[in-house]
Amino acid sequence: MKSYTIHIEGPQNTQKLAFQLSAFLKKGDILGLRGNLGSGKTTFVQGLAQGLKILESHMVSSPTFTFINEYPCCGDTLLFHMDFYRLSHSTEAQTLGLDQYFQGQGICAIEWFEKAAELLPKDFLEIEFQAISEKARNIHMIAHGLDSQKILSNFLSSFSHNCRSL
Ligand SMILES: Nc1ncnc2c1ncn2[C@@H]1O[C@H](COP(=O)(O)OP(=O)(O)OP(=O)(O)O)[C@@H](O)[C@H]1O
Ligand SMILES: [Mg+2]
Repeated sequence: MKSYTIHIEGPQNTQKLAFQLSAFLKKGDILGLRGNLGSGKTTFVQGLAQGLKILESHMVSSPTFTFINEYPCCGDTLLFHMDFYRLSHSTEAQTLGLDQYFQGQGICAIEWFEKAAELLPKDFLEIEFQAISEKARNIHMIAHGLDSQKILSNFLSSFSHNCRSL
């Protein structure tokens, strides 16, 4: 499976979707989150954080000024939440040392990844958020590479059994 679109009503269901996807993620996996301002990317990462059982109880908020927030999770995994919105150009991204985050100590969720797309590994799962009204989003999941295809297929086979209510 290379791509799939899901209609999601309400922020709780955006979080629920991410929570359910998190069960299929492992260290080294990369999620590229794309979509207009306010389309639901950070909301999605909050659901991921719940699913990965981040150890600190603080709320996940957008790392707009620091570019990268790091959350230790249950089971020796880290969640790296990145937001490239304020990157002025991709050479600025080169100063962040992204390779160390992509080397497999954790799961990366990157808002506005397209601002430094050439620095990402080739295999990643793109998740595009489209606001179709105040109350709903279409979420497109696009696998770039075999590992991401596997994540998407595994997730969707469970999704068809358990998550149709979203
Ligand atoms: N499926 C949904 N239906 C309706 N509203 C949603 C949905 N998902 C998220 N929202 C709402 O969208 C708003 C913006 O969400 P969020 O901050 O996650 O956007 P963002 O894409 O991270 O924005 P930015 O690009 O500014 O970082 C929030 O009020 C959130 O509750
Ligand atoms: Mg955000």
